[in-house]
Amino acid sequence: MNSQFWDPEIETMPGKQLEKLQVERLKKTIELAMNSSFYAPKFKELGITPDCIKTVDDIHRLPFTTKQDLRDNYPFGLASVPLEKVVRVHSSSGTTGKPTVILHSQKDIDQWADTMARSMYCIGLRNTDVIQNTSGYGMFTGGLGIQYAAERLGAMSIPAGAGNSLRHLKFIEDFGTTALHCIPSYATRLAAVMKENGVDPRDTKIHTLIIGAEPHSEAQRKRIEELWGAKAYNNFGMSEMCGPGVAIECQEQNGMHIWEDNYIVEILNPDTLENVPDGELGELVLTTLNREAMPLFRYRTHDLTRFLPSDCPCGRTHKRLDRFQGRSDDMMIVKGVNIYPIQIEKVLMQYPELASDYLITLETIEDNDEMLIEVELANATDDFAALQNLSKSISRRLKDEILLTPNVKLVGKGVIPQSDGKAVRVKDLRHNH
Ligand code: COA
Ligand code: AMP
Ligand code: ZN
Repeated sequence: MNSQFWDPEIETMPGKQLEKLQVERLKKTIELAMNSSFYAPKFKELGITPDCIKTVDDIHRLPFTTKQDLRDNYPFGLASVPLEKVVRVHSSSGTTGKPTVILHSQKDIDQWADTMARSMYCIGLRNTDVIQNTSGYGMFTGGLGIQYAAERLGAMSIPAGAGNSLRHLKFIEDFGTTALHCIPSYATRLAAVMKENGVDPRDTKIHTLIIGAEPHSEAQRKRIEELWGAKAYNNFGMSEMCGPGVAIECQEQNGMHIWEDNYIVEILNPDTLENVPDGELGELVLTTLNREAMPLFRYRTHDLTRFLPSDCPCGRTHKRLDRFQGRSDDMMIVKGVNIYPIQIEKVLMQYPELASDYLITLETIEDNDEMLIEVELANATDDFAALQNLSKSISRRLKDEILLTPNVKLVGKGVIPQSDGKAVRVKDLRHNH
């Protein structure tokens, strides 16, 4: 069946033709980026012009882009269009460090909504569906990204947002929600809250879950499908690329098709930055082909994955990525929020009452993922009121920085365990990780 959201010409385009399209779009994107004060001098130095690109392999001539580049050029240094063309800004957390900023033109927003709507159609959602979103609105792209796509698809959308599980439950029942967008750990948490309140998620109208934003195993997917009596599809999104809608599993559930009309996809050895042999694990590196306000070339995602071999029975030709196996840096994803230990360290360092050793423990308590931060005091004290105030203050400052509330425990000197003389900074005991 043909539809605005199922375009066989693009989705089943033979490889050679897809490459031709990528070359055309890459040339245009380079031309656009020659307006960026970040890329223009780099391209000049490397002698790069659109004419240098004859085949997709010529991508190797282009420089890499990193999150640090985004931070160093905060806030608008990577714009490739005049700022009056920018209609939306998304940004990562981080007030002590510089956050990363992503700029969108109206064309970028439209293209993002179209591609996420295509992803929804690909997993069987239609304009008759009722799609409820549990992601944070505001700066998290999982909020507005899913919202615009659900509306574009013509579905009924429920922008309930993060938290407030009882309200989610009420909406699911009262509005007859048929599809839920949530991170995998919240799918289990919400199911538990529903059961506690006498509702079996299997008895609702929900037939589809879109799950993503954090790594999860096949076993966790099966558990979620079992809990909800619904299909759960893995969806990959990344703010720097637009947000949700970069890659999604089709109904075969055998890896995520990455939309190659929008991205050139490389999987590289994170140390040598050379291509890994096809099918081997490496770091995903992406180049945008359809974004104008802030195109990115060879962006190092730090996500570890592999290409899956063989054609997909669904007929789509866009390559499939295996579920992510971890990261090539120390970023943690907790409750759908990306956090670097250094953000926490920087906040702790602002307190003269604290020594330098700390331990972050991630654990699942009553189906909710939690973060415990144990930190050593510089000097022993038995002033409990002062200690309580101190831990409250640290927790509040950390919430501003990392956007979730950690439990802070102040401990005496020498309590944090050391391993081989080196401090262990993060212990991940979460059920699904
Ligand atoms: N998505 C939606 N709700 C979540 C969640 C998630 N990833 N993780 C936890 N929650 C719920 C909790 O179950 C709790 O619900 P309740 O009101 O029924 O008790 C509520 O959010 C608050 O959680 P809590 O752990 O007490 O608060 P916190 O201050 O540590 O975390 C969140 C605050 C959850 C709001 C914040 O971490 C957040 O906005 N996460 C969502 C991030 C997101 O949308 N990412 C993009 C995905 S594409
Ligand atoms: P953000 O920019 O906040 O959307 O976060 C992007 C990061 O979330 C990615 O780089 C991944 O590490 C992670 N992520 C997003 N989708 C998935 C997924 N389906 N599986 C595993 N990790 C994911
Ligand atoms: Zn497929």
